[in-house]
Amino acid sequence: MKFQDLIEDRIRSVDAALNFYLPGENVYPQTIHRAIRYSVFAGGKRMRPLLALFTAELFNPDWKRVLPASCALELIHTYSLIHDDLPAMDNDDYRRGKPTSHKVFGEGTAILAGDALLTYAFKILAGHTFTENDFNYSYNHNVTSQLKLKVISDISRAAGLGGMISGQVVDMESECKQVDEATLDYINMHKTGALLAVSARAGAMLGGCSDEEAHIISVFGTYLGKGFQLVDDLLDVEGNEARIGKATGSDSKQGKATYISIYGSEKIRYLRDELYQKALESLEPIKNRNIGSSNLMNIRELARTILYRDH
Ligand code: IPE
Ligand code: IPE
Ligand code: MG
Ligand code: MG
Ligand code: MG
Repeated sequence: MKFQDLIEDRIRSVDAALNFYLPGENVYPQTIHRAIRYSVFAGGKRMRPLLALFTAELFNPDWKRVLPASCALELIHTYSLIHDDLPAMDNDDYRRGKPTSHKVFGEGTAILAGDALLTYAFKILAGHTFTENDFNYSYNHNVTSQLKLKVISDISRAAGLGGMISGQVVDMESECKQVDEATLDYINMHKTGALLAVSARAGAMLGGCSDEEAHIISVFGTYLGKGFQLVDDLLDVEGNEARIGKATGSDSKQGKATYISIYGSEKIRYLRDELYQKALESLEPIKNRNIGSSNLMNIRELARTILYRDH
């Protein structure tokens, strides 16, 4: 299968699973279900689920066992965007090409939609959904409870204290201040890098990798995570609004500490190339392991897609 077709195929599976998990818009109370679906199906790139599915496939052909965790990661990510856009945070009006959640549903519902997505993600990770279903079958039958607990613990740290929340707090506190490189790295590795890195690691772990391999994939995910925010900052200045689906110039308007404010765009491009090379090199130790060469090629290709994206 061509790489682009493979991506589209996997995204279709993730979307079908998300559609299954989330209550329908007609279920009472309709407002919250409409708000959740509005953001989840607004056209996100699904990079975190893809990363988890592809790292799992490095170690196991049964990628379907990672669908529940992939969906959980996307729900956590979507919650973080809804809250990140709130007037009390980045105060943004557009997301994924549509008016932000609070603009459509009001702040109260947007806050609750984020809360609901975060908590529901952990219900899916626990393996318990309202009904037994195809999407949970391989996960519940092929992944031990002990491994599920480890993954739940890793993801909750990446999304919370010591992860995304800590990064978002320092991001807010750094507005309109001159920050040094170490602080900027802290912000980005926590607010964005942590969830990407854990997506890569959780996928590999659910695919059955060893502890040593989990570490290798974590390092790989950390390079991608740093590169991800580097490109996000670049696109805030150079991106096409219609393509990125959110307003450009939001960071400078808010006085955000970004890689642009410290390095400028030329250096960002150079750092991106460097991170891409480091990400590829970090996979060297597993290249002779008995894994399909096409799987290794796919994960390299995904790294390129993430770091050289235009939206
Ligand atoms: C944007 O993430 C926010 C960051 C963490 C930098 P994405 O660029 O993955 O957003 P979607 O999911 O495609 O909308
Ligand atoms: C987003 O960082 C980080 C999280 C949502 C946790 P940004 O604030 O830079 O993301 P965008 O640019 O609004 O997507
Ligand atoms: Mg922000
Ligand atoms: Mg923002
Ligand atoms: Mg941004």
